[in-house]
Amino acid sequence: MPPLSTSAPGVRQTKFRFRCIACGDLSDTASQDFRCPHCGDLLEILYPQWKEAPPAAQDLKSTWRQRRLSQSAVDLSGVWRFRDLLPALENGDQAITLREGNTPLYELPQCARITGVPRLFAKHQGLNPTGSFKDAGMTVAATFARLAGFRWVACASTGNTSASMAAYAARGGMRSLVLVPEGKISWSKLSQALDYGAVTCQLRTDFDGCLRLLQELVLRAPVYQLNSINPFRLEGQKTLAFELLEQLDWQPPDHIIVPGGNLGNSSAIGKALLEMRDLGLISRLPKLSVIQAEGANALVRTLRDADGKRLVSVQAETRATAIRIGNPASWKKAVHVLEATGGACEQVTEVEIAQAKAQIGAEGIGCEPASAVTLAGLKKLVKQGFVKQDESVVLVLTGNLLKDPDFTMEFHRGDLFKGTPGESASAALNSLRRPPIVLDATLDAVIHTLEQAEKS
Ligand code: F0G
Repeated sequence: MPPLSTSAPGVRQTKFRFRCIACGDLSDTASQDFRCPHCGDLLEILYPQWKEAPPAAQDLKSTWRQRRLSQSAVDLSGVWRFRDLLPALENGDQAITLREGNTPLYELPQCARITGVPRLFAKHQGLNPTGSFKDAGMTVAATFARLAGFRWVACASTGNTSASMAAYAARGGMRSLVLVPEGKISWSKLSQALDYGAVTCQLRTDFDGCLRLLQELVLRAPVYQLNSINPFRLEGQKTLAFELLEQLDWQPPDHIIVPGGNLGNSSAIGKALLEMRDLGLISRLPKLSVIQAEGANALVRTLRDADGKRLVSVQAETRATAIRIGNPASWKKAVHVLEATGGACEQVTEVEIAQAKAQIGAEGIGCEPASAVTLAGLKKLVKQGFVKQDESVVLVLTGNLLKDPDFTMEFHRGDLFKGTPGESASAALNSLRRPPIVLDATLDAVIHTLEQAEKS
């Protein structure tokens, strides 16, 4: 079957174009694998009219503010509210939205004390409709899938993308196909995809194997691919940065720190920062840093061992299963935004991730393990002097605490590191553990427990 075009008949394509990130080829349409027909590299979305007639920064800011008073579906969405900097829809009814975005920016006073960085904030993307940052990208990409006339959408996933895709497909009246690595994604993410009606295939491979297969599948079958290779996804994910800067009254923080897996999110946030700088929405760039799990550190090695020139892939292994990725698709985009913003790339151990997750949890916020790499990474960046203690820092928490209850239960019960290389180092985390206590149902037993807890 010849590759079907992903261009949408109902969309005025003149508003945006696809550009190859390697050879710069410009095109109005993209094939289903979203790869450059000339060199095979990834595409990004470009808005040619911004060069001739850039939208005025003050107008954008006041339009976005005004839309917060509106009750229309696209204005209630924390993604489509910023639609002036997204691929255009002919009308708002075309959007498939679950009122994504609109996520809070929290202060983290206890983590601020731990790190010695008083101005420390968390942008909690885990409070999106399906519990992760993926919803911001999915609303845009699913909308364009439907506009292009697709009945089926598909993704490879470590869990969150599949949960999000299944939900948006269901809302948009499309069928969804999920490819996930068998036994390597959390039950809670898997259960979301099932409940939202996806056809869910647990493949005997890892995430990288699932993604490879999907790339071949979309060239053979009329399914629309919704991985972050799809540049519409990254356009939606840009809005995290727009919303963050609005919450900070357009005063850029010194640092934004994100977890790195397939590297779509860091690329999207970086693109948004560069666009905001170019359009005059902000006067200086925050440094965007990416943190990976030590066992899934392809970007760290790509920068360290190959100077960012070629991908050094790894056989990924980490309990932060969301970022258990060894062959990240968007590595070139991520290298570009790290260089353009002057950010750093670091890795953290499994024990450091568990400790940081418990410390974020103790703030009453909570996140999934992959999100906690940001706090663990910040500690390292402070030690290295890359982050100064008088600077402001925003951690992007990408997923909800409830996304991986097994990790949390094993940590608090003291089982997480049993028989692993981290076992002895994890003893230092005992004071953070709060195992459930089984008691006889008597007042005395409960009062005794309360007294013991008061002493500890
Ligand atoms: N944090 C969480 C909670 C994630 O689910 C992911 C990626 C990341 C961070 C990394 O983001 O890939 O853009 O660098 N999850 C994907 C998935 C791969 O299939 O759900 P990235």
